[in-house]
Formats: sequence, structure tokens, C-alpha cells
Amino acid sequence: MLAEKKLYIATFGCQMNEYDSEKMALVLHESGYDLTPDMELADLILLNTCSIRDKAQQKVYSFLGRLHRLKEQKPELIIGVGGCVAQQEGVRLLKRVPHLDLVFGTHGIYRLPDLITRILVKGERVVDTDFHYSFPPPTTIKATRPRIKATVTIMQGCNNFCTYCIVPYVRGREISRPSRDILKEVTGLASSGVAEVTLLGQNVNSYGVEQPDSPSFPELLKQVDAVPNLLRLRFTTSHPKDLSAELIATYGTLKTLCEHIHLPVQTGSDRILRMMNRNYTIESYLNIIKALRRQFPTLAVTSDVIVGFPTETAADFDNTMALIEEIRFDSLFSFCYSDRPGTKATRLPDKVPFEEAARRLAILQDRQKEITLEKNQALEGGEVEVLVEALSKKSDSMLQGRTRSNKVVNFMGSPDLVGHTAMVKVLEGRPNSLLGRQVE
Ligand code: SAH
Ligand code: SF4
Ligand code: F3S
Repeated sequence: MLAEKKLYIATFGCQMNEYDSEKMALVLHESGYDLTPDMELADLILLNTCSIRDKAQQKVYSFLGRLHRLKEQKPELIIGVGGCVAQQEGVRLLKRVPHLDLVFGTHGIYRLPDLITRILVKGERVVDTDFHYSFPPPTTIKATRPRIKATVTIMQGCNNFCTYCIVPYVRGREISRPSRDILKEVTGLASSGVAEVTLLGQNVNSYGVEQPDSPSFPELLKQVDAVPNLLRLRFTTSHPKDLSAELIATYGTLKTLCEHIHLPVQTGSDRILRMMNRNYTIESYLNIIKALRRQFPTLAVTSDVIVGFPTETAADFDNTMALIEEIRFDSLFSFCYSDRPGTKATRLPDKVPFEEAARRLAILQDRQKEITLEKNQALEGGEVEVLVEALSKKSDSMLQGRTRSNKVVNFMGSPDLVGHTAMVKVLEGRPNSLLGRQVE
């Protein structure tokens, strides 16, 4: 069908949402909608939302508030909200936002064409937040310009119910996508010029466990590694409780698997870990890090930390600080604890006052900044392989890319290198990147 109408998608949240937004564009293209980067031109505006912390949810409401004027100017405009806030709020969202036409949940992407038809034909306001456990066929959208990196979802949902986390409620139970579909999608991407693929799941280590014939996660990595033309393979996120010796052994042995792991620890306190329902101890976490570094000494390790979980004392926080000193993560995502509706932690007593949590977060982030800089400086003088992703935002003669360890590198070079790898000598380690010079 000839695409005549315009679709604008605003994506919030994690890579999983970015992947889902691509699929939304794909299914709606078949119903005659073409993506536009200009919201003012759109006939259909979709928000793909995140609910991981209260701030993320507030962003959605303020974005929606700003759409009121557009809808007034253009009453035939359709506005829809999908993703995790939509799943969480359902019909409440429709009641709260009068200029909203559609609320669809995290499993509703493939019903979008039907939902839009209902709005167009019957003039109804529509809510669809049912869970439907199935995976779509492996298709990828034809990109308007060549893509260098892509993500591929390998599982949906989460069964872990960490007590602070909304994800199991808004994404449903864990299910794994058939490996043949994953391989087909990765093969398609690699043959169309995508050099780097990131496999996505909330807990990739439990990939396939619910299906008797499925490969394990390390076996899946081996199969994806063999896809022709793929240069780099990454995955996220790995849960420490399920990380196997078999997975550790893949580092340095699969040619495409990048030497970086993101392994969220959340806190340095065993007591808080128990209250979070994380199912590992600091000792077992440290043992995993040791084993990973034994397997591949320069492996980059990054993590997530929550400060100010209910009941967190100054001593618990000191343990978190001691842990980051001991491990020296390459970088860290850190957040103040945020109450999420319906989660167990919300009902815990002894909440840490926001000012105190913010104070602890600042201490943690200041120290981590120094560690990240020291780690970047330690690379000075060495050579790294860079996959060039784009021209640098600051200057056209500068290129920007990433090392296999996922560090950003800026260096001078020919624009022809975009999409290819280059060897670069590190001249300077900076707070958030490396500055380098291309070597032959
Ligand atoms: N599945 C991934 C995490 C997905 S959410 C995993 O288990 O590692 C990404 C990060 O957001 C989490 O690791 C956690 O650090 C943070 N997070 C989740 N819920 C939060 C909350 N209620 N308050 C603050 N941070 C939260
Ligand atoms: Fe949330 Fe825990 Fe599941 Fe990660 S493993 S998505 S933190 S419940
Ligand atoms: Fe946010 Fe949903 Fe991802 S809550 S982090 S968009 S799974």
C-alpha cells in the first residue's frame, strides 16, 4: 500500500522500547503510515513510554500536556500512548488526558492497525492492555539510511520481581523468542550492513530455560556469532544470580562477542540485597567479577546502583562505596530509589528522605566520575579497535565510534570510515570518552 499518512513516535526509556518503536513503525507502515521526524506534520503521534522511576513517568505526562495545543489545531490528529506507563495506567490514562485517543500495552504492538482502524471508523477512544504471549515474525524495517548498530529482542518480560521494580508488572512473564527467529533477524540485519547487534532481555541468562528444546544463552551467543558479516555482538541485561560458568567462558573465545559486561549489582549491602529479592550476595557477585577477569583481564564491567532503598543506613551506603572502590567499574548508572505503584518496596517502612538519598547519590557519582576518568587515562598510549558510528557532533573532520569495551572514542579521519572499524591510538582519556589518532 502507498504510504500517505505521517507517523511520529516519541520513545522514552530503555533499548527494549526503542526496539518496540521500530516494530510499531513497521506494522503501521503496512497500514499506510510513514515515519516523519516532524511532529507538527503527523497524522498519528505515538508515545512509547517508560515507568521505571517516577521521573520517567512524569516526563510522559508533561509531553502529553504539550500535545494539547496540536490536537486543538488539528482535531483529526490521533494521539496514542503505549509502553510501560500505558500498561501500568490503562484506562486511568485515558480519563486523565482528555485529548488522548488510544492507550495500548506492551503486548499490543501488533494489534495497532486494528486499534487505529477502530478509532478512525467508529470514532471511539480505545484501551487495550491485554497480555498476549507471542512473538512476531522476524522482520526488520528498511532503514532510510544505512544502520551500523541494531538491537534484537530475545525475550520478553521478567519473573524476578525485585521488590523495587515495575518491569514484571508492565511487561508480564518471561518468555523466550525462538532461536531460529532471532538468527533470521540478525542474519537479515547483518546482510543489510549492520555491523553490531545487541541482544536484549531483562535477564538474558535465563534465555530458553522455560522451553525444553531451546539453546541456552551461551549456545545462542555461539549461533549468533556465526552469522556472516556480523562484526560485533553485545547483550544486556545479565542478572548476577543466573550468570553461568559457560557464559564466562565465551569471553575471548567468540570473535564477535565484545569484551564488556553490564552486570547490575544495585547495592553493596547484603541486607539490602535480601530486601530487594536479588538472590545473590556481595561475596558471590565479587566471585563472578573475579572469574570474568580471570577469563579476560581487560573486560570492561559496568553496573547499575540504587541508593536510598527503604531502610538503607549510612553503614549500608558505606558498603556500596566500598564495593565500587573494590571493583572499579568502567562506568555506572546510579539512581535514587523511587516508589513504584504496586511493588513490594513501596509498602516498606523507613523510607530514606529524598534529600539524604540525593546526597548519597552525589557522593557515589562524584567518586565514580574519578574512577571512570582514571580507567580512561590508563588506556593512554595503547591501541583500540573502533567501530566508527558517525561524524562527531562537534566537528565534521572528527569521527566518533566505540571500542569493543563500549567506550566512546573521538578521532580525526575520513568520513568513508563510518560503518567500518579502524585502529586508533589513545592520546587522552577524558571523563566520558577517549581522544585518539588513527594508526595504519
Ligand atoms: N533487568 C535489568 C534492569 C532493568 S531496569 C536488571 O535486572 O538488571 C534498569 C535499572 O533501573 C535497574 O537495574 C535499577 O538499577 C533501576 N531501577 C529499577 N527500578 C527502580 C526504582 N524503583 N527506583 C530506582 N531505580 C530503579
Ligand atoms: Fe526489574 Fe529485577 Fe526484572 Fe531487572 S531482574 S527487570 S530489576 S525485576
Ligand atoms: Fe522503562 Fe519499561 Fe524499559 S519501564 S526501562 S521502558 S522495560
